[in-house]
Amino acid sequence: MPIAWSDEYSTGNPDIDEQHKQLFQYLADLEEHMETGADEAYLKRFLDMLGLYTRSHFCFEEICMRRAACPVAEKNKEQHQKLLDTYRLYRDRFEREGVSQDLLEKLHTFLESWLVNHILRIDTHLKNCGNAR
Ligand SMILES: [Fe+2]
Repeated sequence: MPIAWSDEYSTGNPDIDEQHKQLFQYLADLEEHMETGADEAYLKRFLDMLGLYTRSHFCFEEICMRRAACPVAEKNKEQHQKLLDTYRLYRDRFEREGVSQDLLEKLHTFLESWLVNHILRIDTHLKNCGNAR
C-alpha cells in the first residue's frame, strides 16, 4: 500500500502541499507498476518525469523558504542537493543496467523515505515561518 499524504505533511503553503501530493502520486504510480510489471520504457519515463518535477519543485520551495526567512532554509537546500545527487545515482544505474527488480525496489525505498523524512523533518518547518505563502 502506498503511503498517503495527510495533514501531518502540511507545510502551510497550499502550492507546496499540492506539489508534495503530486510526489506521493508518483510513488503510488511506481508501486502500481511494480505490481503489474514495470518495463524499461516505463522506468525511463518515470525517472524523466521525477527529475524534471523535482527540480522545479525544489526551486519553488527554496524561494518560499528564503522569503519566509525560515531557519531551515539552508538545511533544506543542502538536503535537496543530496536528494538530487542520489537521484542521479539511480538514473546512472538505470542507464548502465536498464530495469531490474532490485533497482525498482531501491528507488521505491529512496522515494518513500524522502517523502516521509524530508517533508516531515524539514519542509513542515515552513508552517511556523511567518509568511509561508
Ligand atoms: Fe524540501
